[in-house]
Amino acid sequence: MAKTEKSKTSSDDAARARREHDRLSADIARHDALYYQQDAPEISDAEYDALRRRLSELEHAFPDLEHAGSPSQKVGAAPVAAFGKIRHDVPMLSLSNAFADEDVVEFADRVRRFLKLSETEPLAITAEPKIDGLSISIRYENGALTQAATRGDGAEGENVTANIKTISQIPHHLKGRDVPDVIDVRGEIYLGHKDFADLNAAQEQAGEKIFANPRNAAAGSLRQLDSTITAKRPLKFFAYTWGAATALPGAMQTEVVAAFKSWGLPVNPEMTVCETTEALLAYYRNIESRRAKLGYDIDGVVYKVNRLDYQERLGFVSRSPRWAIAHKFAAEQATTILRGIDIQVGRTGALTPVAKLEPVTVGGVVVSNATLHNEDEIARKDIRVGDTVVVQRAGDVIPQIVRVIEEKRPLSAVPFEMRQTCPACGSHAVRDAGEETGDEASNGNVVRRCTGGLICPAQAKERLKHFVSRNAVDIDGLGAEKIEFFFDSGRIKTPADIYTLQKRDAASDEPLSGLKGFGKKSVDKLFSAIEARRQIPLERLLFGLGIRHIGETTAKDLAKAYLTLDALRAASEAAVAGGADSDAYRDIDNIEGIGETVVDALVDFFGEPHNVAFLDALLKEVDVTPFERTIAVASPVTGKTVVFTGTLTRVTRNEAKAQAERLGAKVAGSVSKKTDYVVAGSDAGSKLTNAQALGVTVLTEDEWLELIAKGDA
Ligand code: IVH
Repeated sequence: MAKTEKSKTSSDDAARARREHDRLSADIARHDALYYQQDAPEISDAEYDALRRRLSELEHAFPDLEHAGSPSQKVGAAPVAAFGKIRHDVPMLSLSNAFADEDVVEFADRVRRFLKLSETEPLAITAEPKIDGLSISIRYENGALTQAATRGDGAEGENVTANIKTISQIPHHLKGRDVPDVIDVRGEIYLGHKDFADLNAAQEQAGEKIFANPRNAAAGSLRQLDSTITAKRPLKFFAYTWGAATALPGAMQTEVVAAFKSWGLPVNPEMTVCETTEALLAYYRNIESRRAKLGYDIDGVVYKVNRLDYQERLGFVSRSPRWAIAHKFAAEQATTILRGIDIQVGRTGALTPVAKLEPVTVGGVVVSNATLHNEDEIARKDIRVGDTVVVQRAGDVIPQIVRVIEEKRPLSAVPFEMRQTCPACGSHAVRDAGEETGDEASNGNVVRRCTGGLICPAQAKERLKHFVSRNAVDIDGLGAEKIEFFFDSGRIKTPADIYTLQKRDAASDEPLSGLKGFGKKSVDKLFSAIEARRQIPLERLLFGLGIRHIGETTAKDLAKAYLTLDALRAASEAAVAGGADSDAYRDIDNIEGIGETVVDALVDFFGEPHNVAFLDALLKEVDVTPFERTIAVASPVTGKTVVFTGTLTRVTRNEAKAQAERLGAKVAGSVSKKTDYVVAGSDAGSKLTNAQALGVTVLTEDEWLELIAKGDA
């Protein structure tokens, strides 16, 4: 590490400051999550402010610390002020609940009594799924989306307009002739089962927080201060009601919803109209039986009186309408016996305890395994082998153990003790060092990891499975079972071996086509699937290598920034040589979307000779194709480095970024001497100050749009 001009003490100070900064950042992130996502703050506002003050003091003294991942770089200072508030012109209320069939009968009777309808007079009631997401109110003025707010306390919600605008299902303009001058369209933001599973897999891969269920994931995704993160989450929307409106396109609930659809808003196709209570209950049972197959979580059915004049007459009691009710499903839970706790070894060596259960049906699905997350969770819930436990499933989510029924505990049951060695290779398993640096503390994960690294067969197998998986190199017909077999029989130990398999097989005494379960046809098919992947796009290779913290998105960000493997490798090797204080290290850190955790992971990977050897062996077999991006050649911003800061009003931050990149600019997360333009929206903070201090050209949003318009022409 070349550090001639700095004295030893000042570099020690810097290192100490960096450690404190890391710790503070993790603490702040944890308290933000407690405050925003779990609504369960552990410290007072004053204590929180003190943490933030200390963070800015450190950043003031050591400006290098102010990287893109620092909480100080998030828009808005204090969390309370992070999102602006929006008052709902018409309050967002909740629904009263029905649990039993009788409650539904009682609801219909009450409505009839209130409206003084005789038994023979028709009363149409709509039925639709109750989506388990979060409600949102979206204002359209003259057809244009102008603002969006969360429910908040019902009277006042958070302004999440920029985030809502990133959701592709939500139109920025309503189409059609009967759109009122002003209407607050209301509905539910949610995440589908498949998207939820993909998101959690990506989060896990990147070492980020795992969401407990789709609702939390949707809420966490929507309440991002950085809307580029929301934009990456495939949030969805169903419009089902409205607030303030200058006019309504119908006299029935169903007519308004049909108009929503004609305007381009997504509405739930499962909505129907029932004429009798029996029909409502039949609808409820039908939806309940299809619940797992809908593709998104629902927690019941909502019934609404269809005629809007009736709704008006019925009005509200306290905080819920008299004209609607939610018929909730019973929680999908069951009790069973915990027969054992297995330990699975993941690709990064993480040991995950898995509950082996006496098979039991939960919500129509037989469950025999449940995740136990980690040893701390087992201790917290005091889960012991032999216990009778309550198991829960929500939609497609992996079953969980909710609690233990202690009265049923056998006398012989002893507290669980996590093994200290890896079940696959016997190496020591240690509690993750991330704990001390704080990088895992923020998501409450305490992982025990196998230290066997390259000698651990379980890790090696998982890495191979990851390498060939669909979103990585994507080799068809090389699934988990085949990898297990090829690994155990010594045929494939590393990714390079995959590509030499055919040649070795041709010369082998025991060719695959002679083995049980391998016909000539299937072997040929496998070989051609492997051949088809001798060219690997850079971003897929990067993801497939399984470097810690490099998930799909990060792999793409890196590929986009470096274009070729050679360039990325050269940059990483320079960072290995130069250390964390080098320009090379900071250059990588400076890429939008890339933080220190990722740079450290790259440095760890390229600093380890074994990894380099295995990569080189692979590169003898495959070609890595450069990242493809389309660049408009004659743009005034081609090759320029741009930083966006503050709130943009004419386009979302994400759109601005994509546009800049389309024109060949590089978008960075923080300001340095190399920055060409800083585009400052309203409420721009320290990035603007930095730009001014460094003499970087600052543009307003309009000036920026004008500049790039010259290139588009
Ligand atoms: S109608 C006056 N329809 O349930 C309230 N709500 O418990 C009218 N929800 O806050 C709401 N699916 O977030 C309605 N199809 C649906 C719904 C639905 C989910 C949520 C909504 C509301 C909560 C009430």
